Amino acid sequence: MAEVAVFGYGTVGSGVVEVIDNNAELMKQRGADLHVKYVLDIRDFSDDPISSRLVKDVDVIINDPEISVVCETMGGATFAYEYSKKALEKGISVCTSNKELVEAKGAELMEIAKAHGCNYLFEASVGGGIPLIRTINEALTAERIDRIYGILNGTTNYILTKMDENGADFADVLKEAQELGYAEKDPTADVEGHDACRKIAILASLVSGKKVNWTDIETEGITKIDTEDFKYAKELGCSIKLIAMCDFNDGCSAMVSPRLITADSPLNSVKGVFNGVLVHSDMLDDSMYYGRGAGKLATASAVVADAFECVHFAGKEVGRGWSSETLKLCDPGEMKGRFFVRVENTGAEEAAKVLGATEILKHEKETGLVSAEMTGNDFKNKLSGLSGVIKFIRF
Ligand code: HSE
Repeated sequence: MAEVAVFGYGTVGSGVVEVIDNNAELMKQRGADLHVKYVLDIRDFSDDPISSRLVKDVDVIINDPEISVVCETMGGATFAYEYSKKALEKGISVCTSNKELVEAKGAELMEIAKAHGCNYLFEASVGGGIPLIRTINEALTAERIDRIYGILNGTTNYILTKMDENGADFADVLKEAQELGYAEKDPTADVEGHDACRKIAILASLVSGKKVNWTDIETEGITKIDTEDFKYAKELGCSIKLIAMCDFNDGCSAMVSPRLITADSPLNSVKGVFNGVLVHSDMLDDSMYYGRGAGKLATASAVVADAFECVHFAGKEVGRGWSSETLKLCDPGEMKGRFFVRVENTGAEEAAKVLGATEILKHEKETGLVSAEMTGNDFKNKLSGLSGVIKFIRF
């Protein structure tokens, strides 16, 4: 039997205990017999059956020679970093859902794991329960991946879906998402795109083999999207999604931004809290990964699957990571695309001419235009000479 410790008994941590308790027999038949020996948390859970396994001192866990895997679901990059490092240095594998730590210190923690004959795995850090990291590492290992493009944040997708379907205001849907427990009390990381940005940074690092810093990625959230944008989007047969993307066709470009998504894109039908990611690679072409990108049991399932791998392949290096060398990203302004622009009627004719508009949608006081294809830099240069511009959204 492999003894497991869970760091942090929050939503995902309690889910890890539940997944192992429910499906231990099944996993045993498949080759790894997991049992949760300890849960590390500073809080008391006296009414919870877990209380007999609760410890507050991390050293009790890492000094116990029976422990072979830690599931780190604490979040943050301070204690989680210190404790993960301690465990790995003892040869204890660590499986995590903590995207902040993976993005910031993943390369270093993977190095430490390698040096100590164990693994640092992070399937649950991107796309929650969707098996994306293992797919890239294993199923697509004979592929050159040149593009990842998708919806990596469930909270913002829920908000945008509700705005689209009910004509609701951003602020009202955000409040509802908070009441339903989808959005945090402080929703900044989700609505400003930081969460999706960290996830695409992890995927870009995995594909390139070098560290992509999330702070180097141009990121725009969804706070400026309004009901009028959705009216235009409907007229264009589109939805609006927060898209995180990276492209390896000429160096590496990456961006997180709201985009108009046409009806023929499979991402158009990714609704509510679900995530959907399109991976383009040279042999397979497009493949799509869809599922619950957040939530207790979905995310915990991915953490436990990693723990299973660590036990089943004990002593072997599982998966791939990246080096600590930083990958310099291309100027995102050189990426080509089309742009949807809202402009006051007085400036619409000139804007349509300058931007080579392919679609013109007249509303009472303003006009929506779809530009010709051009680089972001070219577009912004043209835009700066126009008057009455209200906003733009990328296609
Ligand atoms: N806040 C994240 C989301 C949770 O809404 O997708 C999973 O990382």
